[in-house]
Amino acid sequence: MEFSETVQQRRSIKSYQPGREISDAELKELMQEVVLSPSSFNLQHWTFIAAKDATLKEKIKDAAWGQEQVETCSALLVICGKLNAHEDAPEIYQGAAQGIQDKVLPMIKNFYDGKDQLQRDEAIRSASLAAMVLMLAAHNRGWATAPMIGFDPEVVSKLVNLKPNYIPVMLMAVGFKKEEPRPRDYRRPIEEVVKINTLDGPGLMG
Ligand SMILES: Cc1cc2nc3c(=O)[nH]c(=O)nc-3n(C[C@H](O)[C@H](O)[C@H](O)COP(=O)(O)O)c2cc1C
Repeated sequence: MEFSETVQQRRSIKSYQPGREISDAELKELMQEVVLSPSSFNLQHWTFIAAKDATLKEKIKDAAWGQEQVETCSALLVICGKLNAHEDAPEIYQGAAQGIQDKVLPMIKNFYDGKDQLQRDEAIRSASLAAMVLMLAAHNRGWATAPMIGFDPEVVSKLVNLKPNYIPVMLMAVGFKKEEPRPRDYRRPIEEVVKINTLDGPGLMG
């Protein structure tokens, strides 16, 4: 599939064919692409929890405003972000040249240590970029997806045993769509969302 088609056709799908499976092998292939997503300093703040257990899915659905796609999708992923991912830098850079380690490791420590808001922003940024890649890579395979922030983060964290250094960034349903979604909703025009030089500059016309 052409990449532009993938981008243009992807939609958030709420209605799934229940009972259709995505195998572990298929999910793994998808995730092998997802982990190629970019992250600051390559810290890879993401962890994806695949909720397979039917009871768990039901409980997550209850914590997610009863959204049906949580239960009927083939694979429900709780996309998590690690707040202290910068502490993994020595492990991530262990194969890098000594010169790079000497330069980058203190830089990472200095940049993130003690900065809670930044750590949280980064966890959300990285996990969100990976989520976007996931949606496009899934669409490319003929699968539908639904990103969700409509859930109680405390309840979901407990259900999947998150430690305090992890946050649930979003839920992602992956599966086979049952019906076509309604036509796309309004998108703001480009000249309104792309500005030249400053926020109050002219909009991109082209
Ligand atoms: C971070 C995020 C959270 C979302 N949460 C929900 C949600 O909880 N429930 C829902 O039905 N849709 C949710 N959506 C889907 C949006 O409503 C949808 O992306 C938007 O309306 C545009 O439609 P499209 O994705 O089909 O282009 C979410 C989307 C994003 C990116």
